[in-house]
Amino acid sequence: MLFSLKDKKVLIIGGSYGMGLATAEAVLEAGGHVAIAARNPETLAAAAQSLEAKSGVSVPFTALRIEDRAAVRAFMEQHAPFDHLVMPGSTVKPFVYDELTEENAHEAFNSKFWGPFWAAFDCRPLIRRGGSIVFFSGVAAVRPVKGYTMGASINGALNAVTRSLALDFGEQGVRVNTIACGLMDTPLNDVLHSHDKAERIARMAARLPTGRIGTAEEGAMGAMYLMCNGYVTAQTIGIDGGQQVMD
Ligand SMILES: NC(=O)c1ccc[n+]([C@@H]2O[C@H](COP(=O)([O-])OP(=O)(O)OC[C@H]3O[C@@H](n4cnc5c(N)ncnc54)[C@H](OP(=O)(O)O)[C@@H]3O)[C@@H](O)[C@H]2O)c1
Repeated sequence: MLFSLKDKKVLIIGGSYGMGLATAEAVLEAGGHVAIAARNPETLAAAAQSLEAKSGVSVPFTALRIEDRAAVRAFMEQHAPFDHLVMPGSTVKPFVYDELTEENAHEAFNSKFWGPFWAAFDCRPLIRRGGSIVFFSGVAAVRPVKGYTMGASINGALNAVTRSLALDFGEQGVRVNTIACGLMDTPLNDVLHSHDKAERIARMAARLPTGRIGTAEEGAMGAMYLMCNGYVTAQTIGIDGGQQVMD
């Protein structure tokens, strides 16, 4: 079996819906165990229940914010030692260039960059040799969208830190990689494009080489590949329907 996670323990921060939940399902199907975390305890409980019903495996969950370094560390310590740390969970708000303030720019970095960064930093004594860390950035780092300056900056920072942390973690046999998604059909788009979601998806689909946007499961396939392939580290892999090269 190429994609086996038999008896591996995977922590997923942001595992209650979207690509994180799809990854949790895939891990359980591949014989692994998951512990999931996110902010909303009700959504987490429902996700854990549905994962347990499908797999027959117990799924512990913890309500936390990725911005809360102490809470994230406690979650990781509770489940240590573990094999993989996957982090699709951060809060992305739809503000654009003209609405940029010091406050909302810091807020954005605190959630999507500093949250996962400190989790990775703090997991060093807790993660097993042979394991990996998976960040989620986004295609905007290399194919910017007008107005989405902060998203592009954060994604670029995550892509860069991936390469650097891969060196730092190499000596303990832990790999570090990032998934850079394009437009994926997840609940995030209800938040980011609440007023024009259907129109935006149709517009993007018409421009993409794939002719459609991605699914949460296709994002999860990326996480599975990065966890299972022991020869891949320091990489940012695009799952973007060809958005980088579209007209
Ligand atoms: N979907 C796309 O089109 C797309 C495109 C480019 C990049 N990405 C990136 O890919 C990653 C995953 O995206 P997705 O579409 O799967 O997102 P999603 O559908 O919004 O799911 C996000 C998950 O993270 C949790 N979460 C949100 N804010 C959190 C916080 N501050 N602390 C802890 N957990 C938090 C959510 O649960 P709670 O709300 O209960 O906390 C949920 O479990 C994100 O980094 C996103 O920026 C997505």
